[in-house]
Amino acid sequence: MSDYETDLIPAPRRIGTTTASRTLDEHTALDAGPGTDRVARWLRATVGPATGLPLPPGTGPGRVRLAIRPGLAEEEGPEAYRLTVDEEGVTVEGASEAGVFWGAQTFRQLLGPDAFRRAPVTDRSAWELPGVVIEDAPRFRWRGMLLDVARHFMPKDGVLRYIDLLAAHKLNVLHLHLTDDQGWRLEIEAFPRLTEVGAWRARTKLGHRDSPLWDERPHGGYYTQADIREIVAYATERHVTVVPEIDIPGHSQAAIAAYPELGNTDVIDTASLPVWDTWGVNPNVLAPTDNTLAFYEQVLTEVLALFPSTYVHLGGDECPKDQWQASSAAQARIAAEGLADEDGLQSWFIRHFDRWLAARGRRLVGWDEILEGGLAPGATVSSWRGYAGGIAAARAGHDVIMCPEQQVYLDHRQAGGTEEPVPIGYVRTLEDVYRFEPVPPELTGAEAARVIGTQANMWTEVTENQARVDYQVFPRLAAFAETAWSRLPAPADRDHAGFERRMTGHYARLDALGVDYRPPAGPRPWQRRPGVLGRPIEGAPPIV
Ligand code: ACM
Repeated sequence: MSDYETDLIPAPRRIGTTTASRTLDEHTALDAGPGTDRVARWLRATVGPATGLPLPPGTGPGRVRLAIRPGLAEEEGPEAYRLTVDEEGVTVEGASEAGVFWGAQTFRQLLGPDAFRRAPVTDRSAWELPGVVIEDAPRFRWRGMLLDVARHFMPKDGVLRYIDLLAAHKLNVLHLHLTDDQGWRLEIEAFPRLTEVGAWRARTKLGHRDSPLWDERPHGGYYTQADIREIVAYATERHVTVVPEIDIPGHSQAAIAAYPELGNTDVIDTASLPVWDTWGVNPNVLAPTDNTLAFYEQVLTEVLALFPSTYVHLGGDECPKDQWQASSAAQARIAAEGLADEDGLQSWFIRHFDRWLAARGRRLVGWDEILEGGLAPGATVSSWRGYAGGIAAARAGHDVIMCPEQQVYLDHRQAGGTEEPVPIGYVRTLEDVYRFEPVPPELTGAEAARVIGTQANMWTEVTENQARVDYQVFPRLAAFAETAWSRLPAPADRDHAGFERRMTGHYARLDALGVDYRPPAGPRPWQRRPGVLGRPIEGAPPIV
């Protein structure tokens, strides 16, 4: 086998050889079967510029053929594909258009790292493919990454680039964390102040919240509705679902800064709240009023018009209850609704929007705090504070996305020592992520089936630009993609040495793509940031 074959990331389910390698050249035709036009367009638009090959429509000898074979789904599910390189040419068959697309991604990897560039860098006119038969399908249907564009805004271009990076790793969900205390990033036509006011903060804490350092420059930005339509269309062509998150009832100070009546006005002077400029869990949460519900219904009406995703994430995490305890209006709501306490009030918010979304054919997702005070009937749980919330939700018959912070929070540092740019949280190495198992062993088979997938979360308090995000995300996203897509053995039995060998080839792809990853030997000199304080976490090893 050639190096390229063994370097496939994520690893395919089965790979065999044929006796016929193929060479693609300027005459190689692309024969797109019914329903595969979008994949053909993607191939011409990506592999075309990198190789200089035109891939004209046609069926001649040696052609690249794309075809949908619904029968493939019976054994391996709707995203299965089979890629064959033999005497007839290259054939990519998928159980669905998505399957064909994942097969096309594998085809690109087989061409070698230069196929990941945007223009040819060699004068070769022929591209050789090894003779292989690959049969492949994903383990999970939800293979996601969260991108926090609220703490630091990522301009649209960067989001489109991340969609490509996810798709190149056969990940299919981009969870966009669009709102938080530090910024509101989505244009809402009914409430222009959400972005006029809520998208901008005056200054930003540098590093951990106890750090004495500030970046005194204003920071912000937001996506117009046209931007979002483009992001969603771009993602759809790449079989990536964009799941929007509008975080309620906590993490809402930016919204309250824009519309002070959303806050607990009988407890604090919400009119003087700015968009927050530092980090941590914020006490300024939404007031449980009819006005707040109506406001967010209008926001969500626009969100649903923009995002076709069945799943809509409404946060629900880290909502301190102090203001509700002190608020006579909140206490009156608890009494009027017959709720037990403030946890019940949090549940009341989430249940309201669970019903509201269900009535519109959508499904609510929330962080595992939504279990407190009673889980809304239709809710799916993102289990982030470890596995426990996910286990409880699965046992209660709810769908679960496993994303425990101890394992797959990509903002956490990748090594001990003092060299990580901002050394926050747990040390989670590339190998730790490779050994992450989304399904805890204590679940029965039926409960385990409730784990619809897994997600790596990239929070951006200390990553202010794309290069910093790249550094935290890569190479660990490659290991994560393998746990999400491939059928790996139990964590202790995983072939980490083999993964590292395949990563050698994958680093060459990341270089070609221009990804500013963390090299295996540690940060490059310009990737270090001495003097910026990290974030200790209880139970995590000390920051040295
Ligand atoms: C979270 O990390 N607060 C979901």
